[in-house]
Amino acid sequence: MMKKLIAGNWKMNGSLAANDKLLKDILAGLSQASCQVAVGVPAVYLAQCQALLASTEIDLASQDISAHEGGAYTGEISGAMLKEFGVRFAIVGHSERRQYHGETDEVVAVKAQRALGCGITPIVCVGETLTEREAGQTGEVVKRQLAAVIHTNGHCISEVVVAYEPVWAIGTGKTATPEMAQQVHAVLRAQLKAASEHADRIKLLYGGSMNAANAASLLAQPDIDGGLIGGAALKAQDFLTIIAAAA
Ligand code: 13P
Repeated sequence: MMKKLIAGNWKMNGSLAANDKLLKDILAGLSQASCQVAVGVPAVYLAQCQALLASTEIDLASQDISAHEGGAYTGEISGAMLKEFGVRFAIVGHSERRQYHGETDEVVAVKAQRALGCGITPIVCVGETLTEREAGQTGEVVKRQLAAVIHTNGHCISEVVVAYEPVWAIGTGKTATPEMAQQVHAVLRAQLKAASEHADRIKLLYGGSMNAANAASLLAQPDIDGGLIGGAALKAQDFLTIIAAAA
């Protein structure tokens, strides 16, 4: 069976002092993790976290990556730059980036391609809004979002991680039930199977109010291979409980 992946997404939270304490507390409580663990930190803290995580079992993730390789793109950070700071995963197409920064399916697909080109694994986020769910469009929306990434990345699609994050469940305390999440994961798995003969090794994460109390039941679903954790990843004990649930 493939190892599960528990990835924290700190979003725009943290400080030098808070990051130091959080990572040290997580490392102190981490007994030979039997799943993969990563933390997605704000870009300015990559160097700090790289140093704190050197020769540990926790991988570093960025929360974004530029769609461009380099040059006159003020404020952007390239894959090559992220790679220099030991970044192993890049979150791409998070709903907050789609919503507040106008990232389209095509931009997200190119970002995934840039990451792969630099040896960074993209964690591609897809998910429907509440309006879309209520209109019965969930399958259609996530398939459209994933199709763009498949189209742009061809056979390399087997190297990505996909995170299903229903927008209505993010930061709201409303989690998809394990059955609801599994239903969408099965749709995504089928789409990946049609695109790649290696679809079984693609990790499909669930994200959206995953916490210490509900992680085990979500992670028990056949097509849920890990979690992308926001709020609960900022509390060492909660994050450790989720990691333990993924063993
Ligand atoms: P919460 O776990 O805070 O709902 O956030 C989920 C998320 O957006 C992770 O990327």
